[in-house]
Amino acid sequence: MKKSLSIFTLVILVLGLVALSAKKPAKTNSSMPDDVKAVIDNSCYGCHNSESRNEDGKKALQFDTFEELTTIKKIHAYKEIEEVLDESEMPPKKFLERFPDKALNEDDKKLLMDWSKKEAEALVKGM
Ligand code: HEC
Repeated sequence: MKKSLSIFTLVILVLGLVALSAKKPAKTNSSMPDDVKAVIDNSCYGCHNSESRNEDGKKALQFDTFEELTTIKKIHAYKEIEEVLDESEMPPKKFLERFPDKALNEDDKKLLMDWSKKEAEALVKGM
């Protein structure tokens, strides 16, 4: 009786630990400069987060789980961010027709491009 009780306790303990470690990591947007974060929150985050209802946007990029990516994937993501901005592909045009206030002005665009370039370079240097 005693023995089975202690095994039971152990199982509960292990389950508890597993549940704890499976808890979602904290949002990592806080590591961004405030001005960058403000632009991303306004124009990108709605589609690019792990709970987004925009399935394709969610698949392509998630800002809230970004820190979980490997270094290589991060570098790739920063490069893609720079590219879509350079080509004015994001935010999508259809979306901007409905929500013109989500558009990026030239300053916002440059801010995001400079930031993603700098982040990618820093990661490459650190490898
Ligand atoms: C209305 C939803 C929406 C918004 C807002 C949005 N995106 Fe996207 N994004 C998507 C979708 C959908 C895809 C995947 C399909 C595609 O590539 O067009 C995507 C793909 C991407 C990709 C991957 C491109 C590739 O070549 O694979 C990047 C990088 C990206 N978005 C960055 C951004 C940035 C930066 C912003 C803000 C300036 C932004 N997105 C705003 C929906 C959105």
